[in-house]
Order: sequence, then C-alpha cells, then structure tokens
Amino acid sequence: YVGTVLMGIESSCDETGVGLVRITDRGPELLGQAVASSSDEHARFGGVVPEIASRAHLEAMTPTVHAAFANAGVAPGDVAAVAVTSGPGLAGALLVGVAAAKAYATAWGVPLFGVNHLAGHVAADTLEHGPLTEPALALLVSGGHTQLLRIDDLATDITEIGSTVDDAAGEAYDKVARLLGLGYPGGPVIDRLAAQGDASTVRFPRGLTGPKDARYDFSFSGLKTAVARYVETMERNGAGPDELQAAVPDVCAAFQEAVIDVLTAKTVRAAQDLGVGTVVIAGGVAANRGLRELAERRCTAAGLQLRVPRPGLCTDNGAMIAAIGAHVVAAGATPSGPHLTGDPGLP
Ligand code: KG4
Ligand code: ZN
Repeated sequence: YVGTVLMGIESSCDETGVGLVRITDRGPELLGQAVASSSDEHARFGGVVPEIASRAHLEAMTPTVHAAFANAGVAPGDVAAVAVTSGPGLAGALLVGVAAAKAYATAWGVPLFGVNHLAGHVAADTLEHGPLTEPALALLVSGGHTQLLRIDDLATDITEIGSTVDDAAGEAYDKVARLLGLGYPGGPVIDRLAAQGDASTVRFPRGLTGPKDARYDFSFSGLKTAVARYVETMERNGAGPDELQAAVPDVCAAFQEAVIDVLTAKTVRAAQDLGVGTVVIAGGVAANRGLRELAERRCTAAGLQLRVPRPGLCTDNGAMIAAIGAHVVAAGATPSGPHLTGDPGLP
C-alpha cells in the first residue's frame, strides 16, 4: 500500500468527516479533508439528538466526500483502500458512515477496513508530528470518553489503564455550559470565557485525587454538581441576573482549572509509573487552550515529550480515521468484508 491513497469516513457523532491520506513508509500523510457538522441543529436541545445526527450524516455524506477530493487534489481512481469508523458512537450515525464506506469500496473495487474512533483520535497526531515512539501514553478526552491508554502499537496493541467512572471530560464541559446557559457544545465557549475569568474565586473539587482513590481513574460528576450548587447558592443569596452573568467567566475559569489540573496530574503520574517518555493528548477536549498550556508545563517539568495535534485535528474529523486506517493497513490487517456493521459500544 505504500504510495497509495486511503479514504477515511467518520460519522460516529455529529460530525460528517472525510479524509484522504497518502500511505508512506513514515506513516500517513494528510492530503486533504472536509468536515460537515450538524452541531447547530442540536444546539437548542443542549446535546446531540441521535435521529437528527443520522439524518444530517445522510444529507452531508456525498457532498463531504466530493469536498474532500477537491481539497486533496486526488481522484477516486487513486484510492486503494477505504477506512470507516465502526465504533464506538451513536448506532444510527455509525450506520450511515458504514453504509457509505461499503458503497464506495464496492464501487471502486478496493478493500474496506472498520476502525476504532478512539484509536483514530490518537492517530490524528501522527499526521502532524510523524511516527509515534512506542510505548507511549495517551490521554483521550472527548465528549463520550476520558481514558488513559498505554499504546504499545497504535494499530494493534492499546490497553486502557484508566477511565472515567461517571461523566467524560467533554460531557462535563457540555453539562456545565448547559447549566450556565452557554449553549452546545460547551467546550469552546467555556474555554474562551475561562481566559477572561479568575480561577481563584472558588476552588471546585478535584475528583478521585485522594490517597486511596484509583490512581488512573477520573470522576467529573461531583465537579458538575459543585458548579450547580455554587450557582444555586448565589441565587439564594439574592444575586440578580446581572450579577450571575458577571460571575460566569470566574466560574468557567475555576471549573476549567479543576478539570485540567486532574487530567494533567494523573497523566504525568501514569507516564512516570509506566516509564514511558512520550505523552499524546487527543480528542475534542485536547483543543482546550488551558489544557494544552498546563500539560506542556507539567510534561516539560517531568521530562516528558508532549504531543498534541492542532485543534482542528482534535475534534471529530475524517483525517483521523484515514490516519488510523493507514496504520492498520500498514500493520497487515485483514479487510473487514461486506458484513461490517457499526458497533456503538466498541471498547
Ligand atoms: O472528540 P469530539 O469532537 O467528539 C467525541 O468523540 O465525543 O469531542 C467533543 C467534545 C465536546 O464535549 C466538546 O464540548 C469538547 O469536545 N470540546 C472542548 C473544546 N472543543 C471541543 N472542550 C474543551 N475545550 C475546547 N476548546
Ligand atoms: Zn471523537
């Protein structure tokens, strides 16, 4: 496959993504991609509505494939393999991507590979920073997942060493944004407001950081409740709409500080325990400015090499699926065949 083009299709949540990469002996090289989002259609519901997402994928899929080819400057005839997110994700949303990928692979007479969305988030980094030195540690922080992963081989050998026991980090951002009336998705707006606020106004709890707590697991639901209580208490003490409005940047800053403190502290500790020298942070929340800065500081202090893809490669996209597809193909994987289906709970 070296020298050939691989197309990746992503449709696990509310982004329809198509990426085209060239497979080289140094890993995948991004040629071009296109992303269509139905995020605006979900905003008034405060979260992703699965049926709306599925319908939006159906409408966006073909135009997004065409746009990706136009951006990449290659033609369908150049494609030697197709990769598609087979899970985890929303059942109906996955189905649209899998059906489209099967159709393209069949029409073009090329093999089809079902790949893992979460591994794709980590693989996105190799598009920007080249081959990963393994073993490495990955912190995967998205809307649905928060995990520490030991990466012995990106294509074939990933072990979860810790995860959230309740909400994912991105979910916490989205829920806190909802209770502050900031809309969906919450991450980008809280990130922006946090930069204008003072994190020292209130100290919110750091979940699972006690001496007896699981070293590598996370908990964010207590933090979300603490933010809700804080706002309720302000209201009970007679704060009016203007006063509440004025407090929002400080609440965002303090909330974000609690999230990124725990994420970075546990990541550095896990890397040290495992004796790995490289840390990758991936997933939608890796776009967060506060997280990127604190992780850089703490990894540098601990002598760890930190890799974080640029923000556009952190949130869901097709390039990351093409990237993991290229790694999987290079590792000699067997094509998925015509019976591939979406698996919402893929580990
Ligand atoms: O990886 P992703 O695009 O989709 C999933 O696989 O879940 O992640 C989406 C999540 C959302 O919860 C969103 O609020 C969060 O990533 N997010 C951010 C930022 N940008 C997106 N969270 C914090 N700061 C950001 N800048
Ligand atoms: Zn994702």
